[in-house]
Amino acid sequence: MIKEISSFSVVPVGGEAFVVYDANVAWIAEQIISRGAVGAVAVEATEENKTMETVLLICRSMMEAGVTRGGEVICVGGGITSDLGGFAASIYKRGIPYVNVPTTLLAQVDAGIGGKTGVNLDGYKNMLGVIVEPRVTYICADALRTLPRRELLCGVAELVKTFLIADRASYEEFCRCTSPTSAVKMVLKAAAIKQGIVAEDLYERAPLSSRPSEARGEISRAVLNFGHTFAHGIEHVALERGDDVAHGEAVAMGMILAAKLGDRLRGTALAPRLKADFERIGLPVKCPYTPEELVPAIARDKKAAGEKVRFVLLEDIGKPIFEMLAPAEAVDILSR
Ligand SMILES: NC(=O)c1ccc[n+]([C@@H]2O[C@H](COP(=O)([O-])OP(=O)(O)OC[C@H]3O[C@@H](n4cnc5c(N)ncnc54)[C@H](O)[C@@H]3O)[C@@H](O)[C@H]2O)c1
Ligand SMILES: [Zn+2]
Repeated sequence: MIKEISSFSVVPVGGEAFVVYDANVAWIAEQIISRGAVGAVAVEATEENKTMETVLLICRSMMEAGVTRGGEVICVGGGITSDLGGFAASIYKRGIPYVNVPTTLLAQVDAGIGGKTGVNLDGYKNMLGVIVEPRVTYICADALRTLPRRELLCGVAELVKTFLIADRASYEEFCRCTSPTSAVKMVLKAAAIKQGIVAEDLYERAPLSSRPSEARGEISRAVLNFGHTFAHGIEHVALERGDDVAHGEAVAMGMILAAKLGDRLRGTALAPRLKADFERIGLPVKCPYTPEELVPAIARDKKAAGEKVRFVLLEDIGKPIFEMLAPAEAVDILSR
């Protein structure tokens, strides 16, 4: 469930509420903790820290605070914090409920919704985790007041992605949107769309019909991966080379590559349009690597370059479609 709130002072702090918060948003967490939480623990929101060790630390703090099966975890922070806090709650005493108070735009429209929680293992992202939905996700526009612009744009990339796969009218409205009030409305809209897609396929088990938008009741959660097959490749190469590319930036570039691939395969003309829109919004559009450089990263190892992976493409704005292609094949089509 998603609830819009105008102030953090309305987040209910029940009998045994325990707060897991990002140290960078202590100013928000304090407004919640001071209203009667039984305990709280701050986490440092870095990927290196998104580990089982931090989850154990959170669980130990909950034990020390005397949290019972009747307790609840309140996660205050971005995706790292809700991935950690949600996972800790889901395994503590075999699982207690949690709520999210997302403080990044990305978490408001994406990470804080849908119940995927978990941690990295040995440098591999999100290797351990569970899917347990938060009881409520509280969205407060005020949370973004201190968010750096780069982080904000990463959230914009995921917001745009949601509209591109599900809602043409909202995409067009967002591209024209200039006022902060309508921007808030758009955030809630994107959050609701993600929630709706997840409700159809919480465990990502819906059959991958090639036209997910047409097969009612068979919408696969996998449509949310639009732009992400390329994005993961970009992030992988960036990591290897020590380049600083944020996830949302990789997603923006990945969506342009996916649109281009769709254009080549289906004769659409979406990539030039998305490129112009993204440039106006301030999203990066030009992938710093050649498609050839991305192949092993998309395939994860050279031997798998010929094995098919699933790409989410667009038949049109709001109409996602799945296409199984070998990374080498996709790149070949892109370089034609
Ligand atoms: N569970 C999911 O469905 C899902 C979906 C997408 C991403 N994720 C995960 O989410 C993580 C990324 O999350 P994110 O982008 O929301 O951010 P984050 O948690 O990585 O935080 C990014 C940075 O912003 C800071 N920050 C957070 N809120 C702030 C605020 N209001 N003011 C100032 N600084 C603030 C943090 O301290 C951190 O330095 C990744 O680990 C990713 O794997 C999970
Ligand atoms: Zn993403």
